[in-house]
Amino acid sequence: MSRAGLGPRARLVAAGAVTTLVLLPLIWLWQASLVPGTYSIMDIGASSHAHSGGARTSVATLVADPAQPADVAVTLTARQERFQLASGRLVDGYTLNGRSPGPTIRAREGDLVQVTLVNASVSGGITLHWHGVDVPNAMDGVAGVTQDAVGLGDRFVYRFVAEQVGTFWYHSHQISHKQVSGGLLGALVVEPRVGRTPEALDVVALAHVYHGVRTLNGLEGDVSVRARPGRLVRVRVVNTDNGPTPVWVAGAPYRVVAVDGVDVNRGGEVHGRAVLLTAGARVDVAVRMPGDGGPVRVHVGGPRGVLLGSRPQGLPPAPVPRETLDLLSYGEPAPLGFDPDQPDRRFDYAIGRRPGFLDGRPGMFWTVNGRMFPNVPVFHVREGDVVRMRIANSSGEVHPMHLHGHHAVVLSRNGVAATGSPWWTDSLNVANGETYEITFVAANPGIWMDHCHNLPHAAQGLVAHLAYEGVTSPYLVGGAHGNQPE
Ligand code: C2O
Ligand code: CU
Repeated sequence: MSRAGLGPRARLVAAGAVTTLVLLPLIWLWQASLVPGTYSIMDIGASSHAHSGGARTSVATLVADPAQPADVAVTLTARQERFQLASGRLVDGYTLNGRSPGPTIRAREGDLVQVTLVNASVSGGITLHWHGVDVPNAMDGVAGVTQDAVGLGDRFVYRFVAEQVGTFWYHSHQISHKQVSGGLLGALVVEPRVGRTPEALDVVALAHVYHGVRTLNGLEGDVSVRARPGRLVRVRVVNTDNGPTPVWVAGAPYRVVAVDGVDVNRGGEVHGRAVLLTAGARVDVAVRMPGDGGPVRVHVGGPRGVLLGSRPQGLPPAPVPRETLDLLSYGEPAPLGFDPDQPDRRFDYAIGRRPGFLDGRPGMFWTVNGRMFPNVPVFHVREGDVVRMRIANSSGEVHPMHLHGHHAVVLSRNGVAATGSPWWTDSLNVANGETYEITFVAANPGIWMDHCHNLPHAAQGLVAHLAYEGVTSPYLVGGAHGNQPE
């Protein structure tokens, strides 16, 4: 039948029917994408109805031993203000104790760290998340999941035992895509109780971009450090930005001695290669100062970096090496402490992108296992489970994937098995087209975010959760405290 045979009325009806056929699914998709203003993380997710009966533990009860006194006690007072970077530049953002980055917190292994966060002037509320530290869940700092945002004039006390030695950082996890880029962050270093190389010089290099201005410890030029010939220097590079950045060394070979706070087992000398530091990740590089006193520069993302030497000056910038160190084969194998070949759970975290609606707004949005937020997965585990997770990315962009509360070890990338030092990570660079297989032991009960650390991506829904059986959260996203974790 040809359409020419239809009368005008029939044509109108047909057009109406077609319009309805097109519109109805769109309206349905739009409606299905709406996220309520207030909701519990327990009620969202693609598998949220796998609730089990039995005992219920509130995340609020998952704390460090309240009887243990603090070994390191710090108060951090947060303000939203215009402030001066160490470089002298004025920026609008957030400070802790009047500066950004906030103070570096140093503790020794086994110390009870107690940080009192005071909100002096951040109207949207704040929290602190201890990035890379497997803290008890109530201390994880995720607004609406593990606590309420700390409102104007309020305070919150974080307490955890620094069991992991290494380089970490802290940042707000309330409206984090704004507050973190605005500077509500700082470094945390946990030193070993014994076995510290006494002659090593220890330098923190925290990279952050403030309104398009690249900085290292708030400086726009080099961070200059005096180092005698022959001295061993450990530079702890922290990437607090949303994208990956290369780190390389000019003037001497170097070793990667730790990744995401975990020591690398027998990493060899690296010459003429960069190591890629993804968003949220840390890398500790060790450099032995040459006999002539250098200078040596640990480049972080560009011409500037940490400039070391008996006279730290006058070294022209070196270009980024073309080759990148592959952590999959760097260093030597060592026991993991568990058997990943008999996993209790296998999860897929497949990242894609497609047009659709997010909370009623049309656009191109990230998907996890084919679905968009809030229909993203909740990965259910039981304490003690050995978990294997496959993270695949076909979304067209890189994603720095960060699992809270756990360290995972990389088993393979694109089907190629890891052969080097155990590559423990909490912030993994998953480039477009890549597939990683990681494994970890579910040994830290709670409800944990597992999200992209390109924080605008997280705010666009690239978020999932790892939830332990029997654990519940009394907190609400939205609600009276305006909790907004991303
Ligand atoms: Cu460094 Cu969920 O974040
Ligand atoms: Cu991302």
